Amino acid sequence: MRASGSATQMTQAFQKVTAIRGMNDLLPGASARWEQFEAIVRAWLRSYGYRNVRTPVLENTRLFTRGIGEVTDIVEKEMYTFTDALNGDSLTLRPEMTAGIVRATIEHNLLYDRPHRVYSIGPVFRHERPQRGRYRQFHQIDVEALGFAGPDVDAELIVMLGRLWKILGLADVRLELNSLGLPAERAAHRAALIAHLEKHQDILDEDGKRRLYTNPLRVLDTKNPAMQEMADSAPRLFDFLGDESRAHFDGVCQRLADAGIAYRLNPRLVRGLDYYNSTVFEWVTDRLGSQGTVCGGGRYDGLIELLGGKPAPAVGFAIGVERLLDLWEQTVPAEPVAECEVYIVHQGEDAQRLAAKVSETLRDAGLDVIVHAGASSFKAQFKRADASGARVAVILGGDEVANQTASVKFLRQADQDGAQQQVPLAQLADVLNSKG
Ligand code: HAM
Repeated sequence: MRASGSATQMTQAFQKVTAIRGMNDLLPGASARWEQFEAIVRAWLRSYGYRNVRTPVLENTRLFTRGIGEVTDIVEKEMYTFTDALNGDSLTLRPEMTAGIVRATIEHNLLYDRPHRVYSIGPVFRHERPQRGRYRQFHQIDVEALGFAGPDVDAELIVMLGRLWKILGLADVRLELNSLGLPAERAAHRAALIAHLEKHQDILDEDGKRRLYTNPLRVLDTKNPAMQEMADSAPRLFDFLGDESRAHFDGVCQRLADAGIAYRLNPRLVRGLDYYNSTVFEWVTDRLGSQGTVCGGGRYDGLIELLGGKPAPAVGFAIGVERLLDLWEQTVPAEPVAECEVYIVHQGEDAQRLAAKVSETLRDAGLDVIVHAGASSFKAQFKRADASGARVAVILGGDEVANQTASVKFLRQADQDGAQQQVPLAQLADVLNSKG
């Protein structure tokens, strides 16, 4: 007998679908740590008056080409861009959050009467070569102070990060600081830099030649040893800063000194996005190998206007969540998180139905409860109760149903007082709550 087409298809092994390279699943154990981390981060953000915003993951491509800059690594080669088949629009998965938040700020006229402190937490996408600390979908905590001009806010953002490292118990994170000055200062520096690069044309590699006139600052970011000396002797942007830029930068430095925050002035710190001016900074660690930057940010006073809004200053940063969590795990390893406080085991159908009812009463009293699902031996259920991390098992059998009681057994060392105890159902929530 010949198998029909569909029967053949059904017997063929289904080719497993796996996650896209560089995009990670977060399973329950690891995710518990993320939730703990996010709770700390949200409380920290609230303590400085930051409020949550959420913008779409998908935006029109030109928001990023214009906002981040045509000649940046992100726009040149890292964006997930595709054409919307329905209307032909070019769309891009956000490679960062600042441009989207600025778009929303303009679109909703958010700055019409006052500045705003906002933050967003979520996934961003960059088509980079994956390795430890570098993923194609990763997460950022993005923090933006919109409409603030002074160095006080730049410093506050940095001091705020210092506080987060302290809250998390991280010691090995250091601050690198620079100023990119005003556009005119950058233009003067750029001309001097191009002249310097032209003088050394013969040693420029392919990237260097390509960027000579489009993005000469990035040429200095080279890892090519043959170009190091040329890069080291290049004119420094910092030397082109005028009085206003220097005063702003000094204002930031003074306030960091007031707060006891140490920093290294790094004149080569230029950041990989074009929208920055004035203060820029990165927090780096040596504990994460080559991907040691856990946070980067700075001032972007021209971006709101560039994207069509009324001119307004702004400053912000983004933390790379995966990198920071990696560092946190190395410094303060996670404790296993219990799945629940109370695990109810039961025997017989009546007991199972009573368990469902009792569990709702316990949840009313604020307890986290798992009811064993299905029917299995007490031994198997207790094993599961133990593995859940619950501090107490509630046991319901035929006797308990008849007497309207529950047997209670504390499972953890600290509150283990030996044998099981019988508790009337009416008092169960109070007994469980008073013991823990
Ligand atoms: P960024 O430096 O491109 O800045 O990214 C911020 C942080 O995201 C980095 O410091 C790093 O921790 C993390 N990160 C970057 N790429 C990856 C990756 N492929 N895998 C894992 N983590 C990564 C921005 O995105 C700016 N929007 C920050 C900002 C906000 N500036 C002003 N406001």
